[in-house]
Amino acid sequence: MTTGVLTRQLAPGVEAQIVSSADFGSAAADLVQNQLSAKPNAVIGFPTGNTPLPLYHELLRRQKAGQIDLSRLQPVMLDDYLGAVGDNPISFFNWLRREFFDPAGIVASRIWRMPTDPDGIDQACRRYERGLMERGGVDLQLLGLGLNGHIGFNEPGSPAESRTRVIKLTETTTAANAVYWPDASKVPHSGVTMGVGTILEARSIGLLVNGAAKAGILRTALFGPMTPAVPASLLRKVHKIHVIADEAAASKLG
Ligand code: GLP
Repeated sequence: MTTGVLTRQLAPGVEAQIVSSADFGSAAADLVQNQLSAKPNAVIGFPTGNTPLPLYHELLRRQKAGQIDLSRLQPVMLDDYLGAVGDNPISFFNWLRREFFDPAGIVASRIWRMPTDPDGIDQACRRYERGLMERGGVDLQLLGLGLNGHIGFNEPGSPAESRTRVIKLTETTTAANAVYWPDASKVPHSGVTMGVGTILEARSIGLLVNGAAKAGILRTALFGPMTPAVPASLLRKVHKIHVIADEAAASKLG
């Protein structure tokens, strides 16, 4: 378990744990481990991106050391690209498999996959939401933070009531996402994402933020107006947000 971290109550219902970058993965893994200790078959939503990589490495390390049991975990997805079907390499599903699920021995059929086939996508999004309900709802939703304040692919303008749906990605997001893939020109311009409303229904939410580039947007999300213009600010509508930030990302929190 991570020691020596500072947990601060930043706003009603918003707790922030500020850690060194070396402890970031471990602090995030503690959230998962505590959830699984309370409920071994917890439904947990996993994000992609550079931010959660230290979390996935730490979970794999703990699993190898026999310190965590992932065998009953029910993973669900947060977002993906529209058109990222099957074994398309530019897909968050396949990214998550490569970085975490496959090495953790979590077979693909156990993962509630975000639909990505443009054919019948609206219906598939409704089916996705039903699948969350059939699992009893999300126990812990982990999130990264986009440079423009997005959560999942809920770009600025996403209302608090939004549900799982197709969304047009902003240029900022497409450019930021280019680093995940070898050929930047192939990054899709539309995504499919849990809505803000879907995310707010999770029983607990862990917002993971690291690096100096996110310091400004983290401050805006936590202290600025609650507005769809900054989707992450809408997380403050519910009183169960646990922010894990490294010192660089927390540098503007005051
Ligand atoms: C991406 C993903 C999000 C992710 C965010 C931050 O666009 N859709 O789910 O949390 O942007 O990414 P990163 O952690 O690489 O900064």
